[in-house]
Amino acid sequence: MSIAWHSPYEKNYVEYTTASDSTFKNSKKLNVNCSFRNKDREFINDKLNPVTFYACKANLSGLSSNTDYIYRVGNDYSVSGSKKFKTASGNKSNFSFAWLADVHTVKANDKYRKNIKTLIDKMGNINFVMFSGDITDVGNMYDQWGYFAGNPSVSNYMFATIAGNHDYYKTKNGSDRLRQNDCKYFSNKWFIDYAAIPKSSTYGNSNYWFRYNNVLFFNIDSTQNDGVNDSNAKLSVKEQINWFKEVADSQKGKYDYIIVQQHFSYIIDTEVKYGRFDKWSPVFKEYKVDLALGADTHTYSRSAPVYYTGSSSIKRVSESNVKKSSSDGTVYMTSFQLDNSEAKLSTGVKNKATIFKKESFSAGGGTGGCKIDVSSDGIKLSLYTGDGISDSVFISKKNRN
Ligand SMILES: [Fe+2]
Repeated sequence: MSIAWHSPYEKNYVEYTTASDSTFKNSKKLNVNCSFRNKDREFINDKLNPVTFYACKANLSGLSSNTDYIYRVGNDYSVSGSKKFKTASGNKSNFSFAWLADVHTVKANDKYRKNIKTLIDKMGNINFVMFSGDITDVGNMYDQWGYFAGNPSVSNYMFATIAGNHDYYKTKNGSDRLRQNDCKYFSNKWFIDYAAIPKSSTYGNSNYWFRYNNVLFFNIDSTQNDGVNDSNAKLSVKEQINWFKEVADSQKGKYDYIIVQQHFSYIIDTEVKYGRFDKWSPVFKEYKVDLALGADTHTYSRSAPVYYTGSSSIKRVSESNVKKSSSDGTVYMTSFQLDNSEAKLSTGVKNKATIFKKESFSAGGGTGGCKIDVSSDGIKLSLYTGDGISDSVFISKKNRN
């Protein structure tokens, strides 16, 4: 279990214990030396002044399975409030998670908080949250990360986050996103200081994998393989694919499902977006990836289980270049956003899919989120909106022998 936080001091600690030990009487304490982030990190606050701090990361080990834990962080001068997480059972038992994305937090108000709370409350029992990027509106604006993390409904769950293109943006005046030549993406360094990603399974700073019960999860930084200014942040899609294959091979036999999340959407109905569908789809077919989650366009879309049969990049998918297959195909999804000025979920969501109409859903732009239930038979996906559940599908378990 990875925990990340920021402190004004170098020496800090994290204390953790089972949820029933609410006074931390039997807690374990881990001392943590944190890394100083100076002005070169280019973080600025809402007043546009540089921010410096110590970035802290801890990995909690020796945890019991299927157990509710509480933890808090502190130093010689203060201690935080207590937060929660629940460990995986580690076997093949059922679990659920929320899949959310694109909140572009600017302030600590309802516009950026209410929909997340409404959705998580509606979904009921979830074990953690997958978040497909764009936590912030502009990545180097320090306070935006804090406003997201300070959302009371966020602190009750583990979050598996990835960087979105907004998290890569940089500004000096608080509004203009700086460009360098044609490129407006700067760096994943602000995401890295924020995110609690597992140290032992991270690749290229901002890609990582984990296993939760019988699912192998991949988190791919899709902005990293697009145009990025910071040379330390760049990685090609080819390198990411090689890493994906190595990990999936090493985990063979230990999972029943593969779920991938990245920020850039792969396909929306027939339209090919920035998620490198032509490159990933053959790999997803080979490894029988069940679900590929994307975001970025704020459009809800769910494909039939498909794979790409061509070899070069394309602008549109059609029945002549993708094949529908429940045994080898991947369901490609794109998520709605979470911020809007009325702080309300969409209503009246309608299916406008034009390809494989019966097995697909394409809704256009809106606000909402999904719950994903994993069982021994398959994966059930439900889209939650202001009307309740507006789309639902069951993806049967594939034969992996
Ligand atoms: Fe976005």
